[in-house]
Amino acid sequence: MKNQLLLESFEALLEAQPTEISVLSNASAFIFENIEQLNWAGFYLYDGKRLILGPFQGRVACSTIELGKGVCGEAAIKRQTLVIDDVLSHENHIACDSHSRSEVVVPIILKNKLYGVLDVDSPIFNRFDQDLVSFFESFVEILIKSIDK
Ligand code: SME
Repeated sequence: MKNQLLLESFEALLEAQPTEISVLSNASAFIFENIEQLNWAGFYLYDGKRLILGPFQGRVACSTIELGKGVCGEAAIKRQTLVIDDVLSHENHIACDSHSRSEVVVPIILKNKLYGVLDVDSPIFNRFDQDLVSFFESFVEILIKSIDK
């Protein structure tokens, strides 16, 4: 129920955003403010070749990620949500913040084209249960509707 209310308030928030940068910036702030036990939340955007760092909340992060590399690049190329319960034992993980222990990445597909990914990191293992993963997937669907105007 709490997640449903959050999604409704996120939808309302996006109605007031004039540009894509505003949408993505406030989207990352919204996650960081409302979901506990996170150390990073933000976007990597596809420039036609690779993923480039977009708006985020958290520590300074790597600015480019090749497709297939890291959890972000893997989710982007597979077009599939990836949940990593323990990033320390996941080989294809790029450690931008050494505090990260678990991670979820949701691809953002707009008009059947890769737009980017939502990346959320936590400093605790197994942070992302099915409810929270579904929340982030619905969050991205709302985001796509707002960008696709
Ligand atoms: N851990 C990500 C890289 C991005 S940072 O976590 C912000 C990955 O493996 O793709």
